[in-house]
Amino acid sequence: MSHLSRVYNLSRNRKPVKRFADRPVPQELLDRILDCGRYSTSAGEDQPWRFVIVRDPLIRHRLAEAAFHSRLARTAPVVIVGCARLHSRVSGNGRPAHPTDLAAAAQAMSLCAADLGLQSSWITGFRETSVRTILGIPQDIPVVTLLAVGYPDGFVRLPDRRPVHETVSWDAWEEHG
Ligand SMILES: Cc1cc2nc3c(=O)[nH]c(=O)nc-3n(C[C@H](O)[C@H](O)[C@H](O)COP(=O)(O)O)c2cc1C
Repeated sequence: MSHLSRVYNLSRNRKPVKRFADRPVPQELLDRILDCGRYSTSAGEDQPWRFVIVRDPLIRHRLAEAAFHSRLARTAPVVIVGCARLHSRVSGNGRPAHPTDLAAAAQAMSLCAADLGLQSSWITGFRETSVRTILGIPQDIPVVTLLAVGYPDGFVRLPDRRPVHETVSWDAWEEHG
């Protein structure tokens, strides 16, 4: 249907990747992806992100160890490490803003990667102190996300999604069984 957006199609046709092919990501594509992160939205226009791009195989290997031996981190030709410059802003809801800002940027980069024929996977299971040590990130800078990017080496099936009626309620909260 013509009214369905490209973002809709990318989201619906997404396939989780479990490992990456041994194939580099062209710099031009990586620059596009990083621009999508840079142009992402943030609370109060803080733009609190600072991305450390890791391509060096030895550093990636150490990152994978810090991510509990993640196969995604080990096989990805690029890992985008999302750090927060500011971590003092507290939103009106009483919660810190930087995790949601960094998540929005990671999702924007993830969709951009898919649009460019690449795949990506988030990794939040990592020892933050180890990642800081490996990359020389200062103590007071939160490390929020790792985004592994590359060409996939096979896909797995997208797990079934909860149906709309279990996911969405209109005008008020509804309990579902
Ligand atoms: C916020 C977030 C954190 C994740 N952290 C990890 C991780 O630490 N290690 C890992 O191997 N995969 C991680 N993943 C990848 C998911 O486990 C993987 O994509 C899974 O297949 C989820 O399926 P989906 O992509 O269909 O939602 C993470 C994904 C998300 C969205």
